[in-house]
Amino acid sequence: MAQPRSILILTGAGLSAESGLATFRDKGGIWSKVRIEDVATPEAFVRDPARVQAFYNTRRRDHASAKPNAAHLALAQLEAEFKGDVLVVTQNIDALHEAAGQRHLIHMHGELLKAWCLACDDRAAWNGDITPASVCPHCSATGRLRPDVVWFGEMPYHMDLIEEALAETDLFVSIGTSGNVYPAAGFVAAARAVGARTVELNLEPSEGARLFDEAIHGPATEVVPAFVRRFLV
Ligand code: APR
Repeated sequence: MAQPRSILILTGAGLSAESGLATFRDKGGIWSKVRIEDVATPEAFVRDPARVQAFYNTRRRDHASAKPNAAHLALAQLEAEFKGDVLVVTQNIDALHEAAGQRHLIHMHGELLKAWCLACDDRAAWNGDITPASVCPHCSATGRLRPDVVWFGEMPYHMDLIEEALAETDLFVSIGTSGNVYPAAGFVAAARAVGARTVELNLEPSEGARLFDEAIHGPATEVVPAFVRRFLV
């Protein structure tokens, strides 16, 4: 295959599964244990903020012991060594891409390790629990912080940048996502529309499998390093 000029990589929860972070829709996944309507919508936060904060506080604690896996490291190596452009757009709110050394990265669903102040709109790094006693480091308001995570019904972040990148890419790679949630699930169609080659790397065929030119099935820590080696001479 001729070397692409620019590679756009969309990642999902399957990429972090082997780092010990739960996926959403696999057997035993997060949404089989708690309802989206109870913890991941603006309405849930208005109705029962303590429950929503507890859900993300638990995920922040789980994150503390998670390490990037071979798939995260391979993507960081691709960015560092590939001659063309590499952009990772992740649906994941974990910080494992950054921990692996990825620089050119967009968190379209926000970040677990950030807090958003509803009093001053500032976003700050936040590793601990968010509670009603939490103080905004920017404006000192108390009890006004929420997770800087995009909930269902809210607009994903940086869609303008993502759409620009999709219009330019000649290789779109989807890794570890079930292709259930839009707008991310629509990216493959946008890439095809500009003539990009499309490849899916996943444990099993996703909802959008038929839209991909090539599919490689297996655990991310095996299939991603092997795929990256195609581009590193
Ligand atoms: N290696 C590769 N793929 C894997 C692995 C693995 N070790 N384990 C699971 N997978 C695959 C599953 O087969 C599944 O297709 O990863 C995918 C995970 O799908 P989801 O759990 O639906 O996660 P994701 O697609 O990232 O969800 C998208 O939905 O709930 C919202 O905002 C949340 O960002 C999330 C979005």
